[in-house]
Amino acid sequence: MGKIVLTGKGRRWVERGHPWVYLDDVADGGGDAGELLPVHAPDQRVLGWGLFSTHSRIAVRLVTRSTDQPDRAFWLDKVERAVRFRERIGYMEPEGACRLLAGDADGLPGFIVDRYADLLVVQSGCQASDRMRDFLLELVREVIPVPVGGVLDRSDTGVRKLENLEKRVEWLDGERRERVLVKEDGLVYDVEPEGGHKTGHYLDQRENRIRAAKLAGGRRVLDAFAYDGLFGIRAALAGAEEVLCLEQSGPALERLAHNAKLNGVEDKVKGERTDAMADLRRRSREGERFGLVCVDPPAFARNKREAEGAARGYHELNLRAIGLVEEEGSLVTSSCSHAVRREDFLGFLAEAAWDAGRRVWLSSVHGASPDHPHRLDLPETSYLKCAVARIGASL
Ligand SMILES: C[S@@+](CC[C@H](N)C(=O)[O-])C[C@H]1O[C@@H](n2cnc3c(N)ncnc32)[C@H](O)[C@@H]1O
Repeated sequence: MGKIVLTGKGRRWVERGHPWVYLDDVADGGGDAGELLPVHAPDQRVLGWGLFSTHSRIAVRLVTRSTDQPDRAFWLDKVERAVRFRERIGYMEPEGACRLLAGDADGLPGFIVDRYADLLVVQSGCQASDRMRDFLLELVREVIPVPVGGVLDRSDTGVRKLENLEKRVEWLDGERRERVLVKEDGLVYDVEPEGGHKTGHYLDQRENRIRAAKLAGGRRVLDAFAYDGLFGIRAALAGAEEVLCLEQSGPALERLAHNAKLNGVEDKVKGERTDAMADLRRRSREGERFGLVCVDPPAFARNKREAEGAARGYHELNLRAIGLVEEEGSLVTSSCSHAVRREDFLGFLAEAAWDAGRRVWLSSVHGASPDHPHRLDLPETSYLKCAVARIGASL
């Protein structure tokens, strides 16, 4: 077995709490792709155990600060704690959906498992999670309190390239399924596990959709960057007068129409295929107004270099969105860019409010749903920001 020896700087970094070791902080050692290795300080003291990558800039992901080598019971404990937590928060309804294992956030580097009713969709993002996939799935089956009827490995994300891994989509268990029906808190929707975005659905906005829907009663609602329409459909179910969903993807709009029908709100929810950025500008110029506007764009910045362009994008988008809200209406605005911090996002919103010439009160700010935990010693696990604001009169 190999080992890793850190530089002095690497030791200080790890001892201050961050569980990732960057390549520059490795003085010596190495191992096989995804191997579990002991991590040593420069004086050879063992600082813990971590999963090694032969390729990534993140050379080691520490999984324990104990000197004992993790064994089966160690991994079973991690999986079990994660699953029990989802159960405790009410996310394990047999026909429901949730992120069952959230990778590094649950102490399982790179290993994501999303559950859509009885289907598990795995997404592996690093060499170690590839190496451990079948073993970890075996542990999931041991503890999951609902039946498992199929397993799809949908490891097709761009991050795999950083680990020198090919993209991969394969059914590991059960018949290939095009669609899975999910029932969640009075909402019904179809997920396409192979063809949809991410693992088929944006699970992270579950609670924010419920928050937005509370502001929708009797209102005209705009759901911009709607994907399969669940902000809008939730709003319609909560008594919105009418809902307009803007989305550029044809397949997403088809699913949106199907989901609206499943929930019996097809008369209220209309989808339009359009560039939402341009559409918001036009509607705002033409003086259109809504009681609730939800905007949930794709990530404008994938890294720190792109953050400056993203600042302009968020400012512009929120300026237009604020302009579309009627007096005493609400805005629910999200950003899923990792590289944009919460304070920065709120800063863009404040500037947009000023430039729109409207008084804006920030009611609350949220992150992703709790099945996407934000692990405080790993800031990289926080990415979604969702601000709920009340929009007043002109200044
Ligand atoms: C973060 S997802 C939205 C998730 C959705 N709000 C939900 O709750 O599931 C962003 C969506 O914006 C769409 N999109 C990206 N650029 C767009 C554009 N310029 N105009 C309209 N839609 C766009 C993508 O196809 C994707 O469905």
